[in-house]
Amino acid sequence: MSTPKRYLITAALPYANGLKHIGHLAGAYLPADVYNRFLKAQLKEVVFVCGSDEHGTAIPIQAKKEGTTAQAIIDKYHPIIEQNFRTLGIEFDIYHRTSSELHHTTAQEFFTKLHTDGKLITKTTEQYFDEEANTFLADRYIQGTCPNCGYEHAYGDQCEKCGTSLSPELLINPVSTLSGKTPIKKETSHWYLPLNEHEAFLQDWILNTHGADWRANVVGQCKSWIDGGLQPRAVTRDLDWGVQVPVKDAVGKVLYVWFDAPIGYISATKQWALNTGKDWQPYWNDADTQLVHFIGKDNIVFHAIIFPVMLKLHGNILPSFVTSNEFMNLEGDKMSTSRNWKLEMEDYINDFVNKENGGAAMADALRYYLTAIAPETKDSEFTWKGFQDAVNNELVAVFGNYVNRTFVLMHKLCKGKVPPLHTAVLTDADEQFIQAIAQTTQKVTSLLEQFKFRDAQFEVIDLARKGNKYMQEKEPWIVAKTLAENPAAQQVIDNCLHLCLQSCANLAILINPFLPHTAKQMLYMMKVVEKMLEWKNAGTIRLLKVGYSLREPQLLFRKIDDEEITYQIQKLHAMSEAAKAASTPPPAEEQAPNYAPVKPEIVFDDFAKIDLRVGTIVAAEKVKKADKLLQLTVDMGFETRTIVSGIALHFTPEQVVGQQVTVVTNLAPRTMRGIESAGMILMAENADGTLVFVQPAQATAAGSTVS
Ligand code: 2FM
Ligand code: ZN
Repeated sequence: MSTPKRYLITAALPYANGLKHIGHLAGAYLPADVYNRFLKAQLKEVVFVCGSDEHGTAIPIQAKKEGTTAQAIIDKYHPIIEQNFRTLGIEFDIYHRTSSELHHTTAQEFFTKLHTDGKLITKTTEQYFDEEANTFLADRYIQGTCPNCGYEHAYGDQCEKCGTSLSPELLINPVSTLSGKTPIKKETSHWYLPLNEHEAFLQDWILNTHGADWRANVVGQCKSWIDGGLQPRAVTRDLDWGVQVPVKDAVGKVLYVWFDAPIGYISATKQWALNTGKDWQPYWNDADTQLVHFIGKDNIVFHAIIFPVMLKLHGNILPSFVTSNEFMNLEGDKMSTSRNWKLEMEDYINDFVNKENGGAAMADALRYYLTAIAPETKDSEFTWKGFQDAVNNELVAVFGNYVNRTFVLMHKLCKGKVPPLHTAVLTDADEQFIQAIAQTTQKVTSLLEQFKFRDAQFEVIDLARKGNKYMQEKEPWIVAKTLAENPAAQQVIDNCLHLCLQSCANLAILINPFLPHTAKQMLYMMKVVEKMLEWKNAGTIRLLKVGYSLREPQLLFRKIDDEEITYQIQKLHAMSEAAKAASTPPPAEEQAPNYAPVKPEIVFDDFAKIDLRVGTIVAAEKVKKADKLLQLTVDMGFETRTIVSGIALHFTPEQVVGQQVTVVTNLAPRTMRGIESAGMILMAENADGTLVFVQPAQATAAGSTVS
């Protein structure tokens, strides 16, 4: 591809249904941000869009959990998620919302064009329906066993364990998540994207055109989908939350969330253009645009198969790159929101960034470790010990230490100014170090162009490592001791510190996409403006002017103490135990009672016919040959009655004498075991079958009416 005129970077729109964890951050947002900063440092025309995915069943399901509305959920989480990203340095040009009017109209127009151009098909099929909730069971409203990995709580659209994209009919033992009941099947009509008609295009575009330049995980997933044979995919749902289907009579139907969400990238671009007075159209319509999607592993088919078909049919450009990471595990287990085995961005920010000790540099510390262990080709593992080692042994001991030593020595041995470079006395070591600066720049550039962020960051740190080694070999502090007898030795000192300072300026440029806060701190120490961070400046040793006085060094990073990581590990286990306890059914005696169904409605007149009165049991005896019956003599005030009651297994005659009870007084008499029973005693029955009398809370005159 020739050099693109402009770039559009997208990061998967996270569901605004809860806080996002560092697995999300490492999967899509951080690499997207690094790439965005890398391109912007090259002064390319770049727009980086993201925002909240506010539709789909995930939102109302969370609303039900929190006892509130879907709107309240998105209004709660959208701003927090955006703020968390920004605190960790993710510099979106726009963080939009799919609940916005602009998005709804954009998605509707997109659908309408495909519909009117005859690109969609309609089908009437039988779909799962929950009779109790009176609704079709789309996506996360249905759960069952995953046909791929056997996970028992796979959703109707996706298995969260193995990431396989599913449809409800594929689930084994499907159950409604709304009522817990087994659903029935009912007919409904929907619009479908006939993916099967685009198989040849996808085969060619993904496997032939991009088979070599896209990551193997993306190509591999697409290949297995295509090899399995593509099916028409429903793009509408019977739901009341989402973008209304813009077709007359399509009542109660909304666009499938995976149809409208990627269109969210387009509406976000439109909103960005409105905010900045730019034109959004070339970003989606001009072949000179490079569209790059950064996504998590479970989003691959939507971005590499379904959305490209939608874009092609709609007449837009196609993505140049779909870049996905594998999963990042945490302390030996898969990150999981339901099991609370995760580190939320919010928690990290509260525990590290919003603290005085280290503050903003700790955002960079997390960015550093997440990139250092980025799951680019296979799953990786976040451990708190690994985090501590990376920060203490690499950021503090290598990068921070090198910059600090350089500045301290420059103040001590060069009067706080950039010393001159005496080219006549350059040594091999000096020349090699100059070369290393240029080579590192080339390597980092090439690796970033190939989306190899992990290796690229390694190279930057490695330059600092080389700098430390160079300084160690040159030993300017030892040379300084010889100055009295050999003043010319100052040239050796000058050369060393000149090159070390120039390399620090290079490090600021090269580290900037990864650790933007650190780069700014370094600019401050060097008293230079942000313009120096332009990528084209890297690789040279002409960045800092000779004689320019620089500030005293500031420590760029702080060490992580053992107590901090012990606390985090304990917290992780405690949170997960708490989640386990909350999801384990309580012991039988604490279980919620199984309520009897409510009887059909009656009118007041029906109720008014029943004559309820307070009576006092004055005598009781067992009915012969009837285990369950007690014969009671009840003082009704106006008369004494004999009532036979089926409570003998619960009470002895002695226990009931003297009890006040509520009696249905006008019930037609019944004869039991030869005894005529004139009324009925009201009892309440607990879930475990125990009985209690329904009686007045205080002694009440026998014969008093109850109403
Ligand atoms: O998996 C998710 O969190 C989805 N909300 C991602 C959507 S990406 C895009 F299509 F908007
Ligand atoms: Zn599965």
